Amino acid sequence: MKTVLTGIKPTGTPHLGNYFGAIRPALSLAENPEHRALYFVADYHAFTTVHDAAALRASVYEVTATWLACGLDPNKTSLFLQSRVPETFELCWVLLCCLSSGQLERGHAYKSALDRGEAPNGGVFAYPALMAADILLYDVDQVPVGQDQKQHVEVARDVALRFNHAFGDTLRVPNVVVGEAPLVPGLDGRKMSKSYDNTVPLFLPQKELRAAILRIKTGSEPLSAPKEAGPSSVYQLFRLLATPERAAQMVEQLAADPGYGWGHAKQDLYQAVEAELAPKREQYLRLRADEAYLDEILERGSAQAREVARATMDRVRSAIGIRK
Ligand code: ADP
Ligand code: TRP
Repeated sequence: MKTVLTGIKPTGTPHLGNYFGAIRPALSLAENPEHRALYFVADYHAFTTVHDAAALRASVYEVTATWLACGLDPNKTSLFLQSRVPETFELCWVLLCCLSSGQLERGHAYKSALDRGEAPNGGVFAYPALMAADILLYDVDQVPVGQDQKQHVEVARDVALRFNHAFGDTLRVPNVVVGEAPLVPGLDGRKMSKSYDNTVPLFLPQKELRAAILRIKTGSEPLSAPKEAGPSSVYQLFRLLATPERAAQMVEQLAADPGYGWGHAKQDLYQAVEAELAPKREQYLRLRADEAYLDEILERGSAQAREVARATMDRVRSAIGIRK
């Protein structure tokens, strides 16, 4: 049995990048009967940037309902809330004391905040240590994440190896699994991200979804000119949803059909997204309206996760000489 774990930060409404980069690959790993999956809502990671209690609370429910609407089966997969496992923060401290500050200074979230001229708080600096604690608490084998999180999982690997070297074999060393869509582009062609305000939120009403897709930036060639599909966000998103034959057809049409323009390609993309998401959207709206049910799922999942976390923390304390 292999343990698979991933988390999503409740920092806003989940989008197509989260879906293709993290949620869909994680759910397909969870379907494997050889896997025990633990998926969670990383609310204390969100607190590094979200200092608005109502927004944080609402986003936790949105992310939880999204996991369930996308097909997570809470009877097979533990769906939990990071803050409900206090051992996380104890292990985070232990790991902070085992990491060099240089390694944290190289963390990309911290570095890019500095590059943007911000003055990041200590939580942004310690972010990779908290993420390492999330992972190492649960004896995890695989961590499915998008490309942008790879460096963080590597920190978890590194610190586990360092810890084991210093204190004996205590922590399982995890692997990263980057999703089949390592970087989903957004409306402006950059990585789709809440921080760039270029996302297509997952469960927009039909009309707004169509309008968002029509806003995707494309070339401005005349309709009859040959157009290159490859670099466009329209094609890259379409490829994630269509069969290989259907995707090849779009490439061909854009290149050689003088009556097929970017507007047509966007219409095809819209239909593909709508077909994939419409049934999930209905489920999502139903689940999002039932906060008591979402609380119950999170409580149950968190109790399961905490059992594993307690056993790991016992091993860690005893390895480093802290009284039980
Ligand atoms: P955001 O960048 O919008 O704040 P998060 O950092 O909350 O998104 O990402 C949650 C998960 O979704 C992570 O595993 C991340 O790798 C994945 N993810 C986010 N955006 C993308 C993207 N554009 N392409 C692929 N994966 C992504
Ligand atoms: N840092 C991740 C993100 O921004 C979320 C996350 C927190 C996570 N802890 C994790 C992902 C542990 C995988 C494993 O998306």
